[in-house]
Amino acid sequence: MDLKDLFQSADWKQEKHVPVIDIVEQGEIVKIAITVGKEIPHPNTTEHHICWIEVYFVAEGEKIPSQLGRFEFTSHGESIGAPNAGSVHTSPEVVVSFKAEKPGTILASSYCNIHGLWQSSVVLSI
Ligand SMILES: [Fe+2]
Repeated sequence: MDLKDLFQSADWKQEKHVPVIDIVEQGEIVKIAITVGKEIPHPNTTEHHICWIEVYFVAEGEKIPSQLGRFEFTSHGESIGAPNAGSVHTSPEVVVSFKAEKPGTILASSYCNIHGLWQSSVVLSI
């Protein structure tokens, strides 16, 4: 088995785990937003939540990705009293800015502690 075989993908409008990549601004600096559960909210409980999102960019004609960031979501209603009794829940959404001198592909992966690894990608035209 290869790690790549564990990544799932689907239509994000019907599958709540898929990281959705939106290009928010595109100039000298590219600003992107990545959201899990954009159309159908993903649960955000102590027992079931999105743990992290990673974002990569691969410039056209290149083989090695540049990691743009890794974002951990570490509050899911935990409490000293009981699971889900806490009042704080980090949302699985991030905004990343980067400079790209060539077009390429933006890739995002996410990890649900129950349902595993998910991925998506969008082409960045310059
Ligand atoms: Fe899940």
